[in-house]
Amino acid sequence: MEQKLAGKVAIITGAARGQGAAEARMLASAGASVIIGDVLDQQGEALATEIKTSGGKAEFRHLDVATEEGWAGIVAFAKTTFGGLNILVNNAGVSLRVPSMIETKLEDWNRLMSINLTGAFLGIRACAPLIRDNGGGAIVNTGSIAGMTGHFATAYTSTKWGIRGLTKSAAMEFAPWNIRCNAVHPGIVLTDMVGESADFVEAMTWMAPMQRPATPEDIAKVVLFLCCDDSGYITGHDIPVDGGFTDAGAYRQVLLRVMSKNSRSL
Ligand SMILES: NC(=O)c1ccc[n+]([C@@H]2O[C@H](COP(=O)([O-])OP(=O)(O)OC[C@H]3O[C@@H](n4cnc5c(N)ncnc54)[C@H](O)[C@@H]3O)[C@@H](O)[C@H]2O)c1
Repeated sequence: MEQKLAGKVAIITGAARGQGAAEARMLASAGASVIIGDVLDQQGEALATEIKTSGGKAEFRHLDVATEEGWAGIVAFAKTTFGGLNILVNNAGVSLRVPSMIETKLEDWNRLMSINLTGAFLGIRACAPLIRDNGGGAIVNTGSIAGMTGHFATAYTSTKWGIRGLTKSAAMEFAPWNIRCNAVHPGIVLTDMVGESADFVEAMTWMAPMQRPATPEDIAKVVLFLCCDDSGYITGHDIPVDGGFTDAGAYRQVLLRVMSKNSRSL
């Protein structure tokens, strides 16, 4: 692979598995030294070993994104191990598909907020000065199409809409530091997060004009683009990677329904 991130250092959160792991492999293949931050120690260590065995540079560091101490630790680790930082990918997240606001418990709301949204805020606050001191770089936040449309899971959708505001604030504040900040918004992606919900995956796939779920690599390619100079004049943006779900899904269903009733007119 072209070494678009040669000499760069990246922290990727929630990278022990799923999309974060695909992003760690892809950024390492593009030449970055990758710090895998996650609460899943065994899987994180195994991934770091896998990347190193195949010739890349990677280290695992235990990180709970919801804690200030966790961020202080990983930032210090980046400094001492790799001499600084250029890239932060806020990917860690948890979901909760409770289809009722009334039934959403405060403790669940607070848990999702602390990991999905506060975690990204703490990460940006801790890492931006280090990225600045290295001459600038890129931050990529992970939202969701649940943050681009009305959605049934109150807590999850609220965290992902929050990611969009955080992204735009960071883009504005850190442009003078030569730091770009964008958000990637996956549609349905085949990872452990949705692994036990075959009906949900099927329904989400049916709504997407491309008629297939995303692979973690589909998302990782866009994250790589947003981290490297190919996207050097893009900041503050929301990039859906959803097979057309958000912008072309609803009217496709309207069309299919009308066509099935009357093939000659709409
Ligand atoms: N899978 C999908 O369909 C989908 C769709 C849209 C957005 N997303 C988002 O993509 C991101 C990645 O999810 P995924 O699909 O790879 O799911 P996943 O469950 O496989 O991965 C999530 C990772 O985050 C880690 N994590 C959870 N809490 C953490 C914490 N407190 N500190 C550090 N790490 C923590 C987990 O250990 C795990 O490795 C999430 O932000 C998720 O909300 C997923």
